[in-house]
Amino acid sequence: MDKIRIVGGNELNGTISISGAKNAALPLMIASLLTDETLTLENVPRLRDVAQLTQILSNHGVDYSVDGKRAGEDPLKGQTLHLTAGRIVDTTAPYELVSKMRASFWVIGPLLARMHQARVSLPGGCAIGTRPVDFFIDALEAMGADIEIDKGYILASCSGGLKGAHIVFPKVSVGATHTALMAATLAQGTTILENAAREPEVSDLAHCLVGMGAKISGIGTDKLVIEGVDRLHGYRHSVIPDRIETGTYAMAVAMTGGSVLLEGAREELMESALDAIRKTGTQITQTNEGLQVTRTNGGIQPADISTEPFPGFPTDLQAQFMALMARSKGTSRITENIFENRFMHVQELARLGARIQLDGQVATVEGTDQLHGAQVMATDLRASVSLVIAGLAAEGETTVSRVYHLDRGFERLEDKLSRCGAQIERISA
Ligand code: UD1
Repeated sequence: MDKIRIVGGNELNGTISISGAKNAALPLMIASLLTDETLTLENVPRLRDVAQLTQILSNHGVDYSVDGKRAGEDPLKGQTLHLTAGRIVDTTAPYELVSKMRASFWVIGPLLARMHQARVSLPGGCAIGTRPVDFFIDALEAMGADIEIDKGYILASCSGGLKGAHIVFPKVSVGATHTALMAATLAQGTTILENAAREPEVSDLAHCLVGMGAKISGIGTDKLVIEGVDRLHGYRHSVIPDRIETGTYAMAVAMTGGSVLLEGAREELMESALDAIRKTGTQITQTNEGLQVTRTNGGIQPADISTEPFPGFPTDLQAQFMALMARSKGTSRITENIFENRFMHVQELARLGARIQLDGQVATVEGTDQLHGAQVMATDLRASVSLVIAGLAAEGETTVSRVYHLDRGFERLEDKLSRCGAQIERISA
């Protein structure tokens, strides 16, 4: 299995091109199931999760192709994907495929809406909590679906098609919002989704669905109103930049010092995360090209954060912020409110010298300027990148094993960082 080897201590200087958002690309790809015409997605990141989802979609009968190299194109820019679900031949999403990536469970919404039936394995994904699917089931049942659970599969059907419904989510869920939103586009009548997730990736999906002919109002708010239509058509859409990748590299610069342009990044997608990073003494300015992140002198100031649904501080940046705080000049408190088991990086950060006390959902981090290299193990996608950025700021050599987690969500991480002066390489086993 591949490892990442880092020798810490170098400043980061230069330009990092920000990829399209994984968490937007996945639901957008799934939306291709809603129409028999071609959905073209630009700026799709080259990631393991994207490749995995193309396999799942092709099992349903979706044809896909990727544009080849174009003259003058930057190889670090995203790919263009064409997805055509001309005829859906299989409404089962099997365990072998779904267990590798939780988001693939979301196919249940479009399959039910278009084919009136779906058989989808209960999901897998990162081990960061129990992650149930009760909100999905309740929402689809409210829209008239009959749902049974049998041998690890959800069997869903709606003989006369889905019907509009008024759904109030008990808690904000990104996946349940994506799924209900896609399902509602082809339901008969009006669906109202209250306490809907407002994450930029949800809005990106909604904008694409509107382009495909859906009628959706309230985009960007926690109340989405969808008037069902008979059919959707093809469309061309460009995926928004990845705010989690952006925040991760901004924190890497905050840890090592230096100045990096995060090309293509957009402040309005991530204000609370940028505010938290600014509090640590890092300058961040929006330019025409992206976000310029600079830390020139002085120590890293401590700051407290609590993870919240958007527009709050994202849980997907919690581990990276903890790594940053481990190097700060004081004590900070980090509260995880979204997932109950998202502190697995604490033990691994401790191997690098971080001083972190856990008490339920709160981690108290006592900063030190003496992080040192060590052998550590990636436990989930975002946790693994927190170990990489800690390694960049630690003295000596760090090796991160189980990097397949990283490949799920970070495109060419070692290339992007080494171009900015980091000593980082992949060791293929
Ligand atoms: C998505 C993101 C993930 C991010 C998370 C929160 C993708 C591919 N993944 O995951 O990176 O960390 O949003 O921003 O976009 N819940 C229930 N019942 C349900 C559904 C969810 O109790 O039926 C709970 C979850 O256990 C969790 C909370 O709701 O405590 C939020 O989870 P949710 O927003 O659904 O996360 P995902 O969509 O899986």
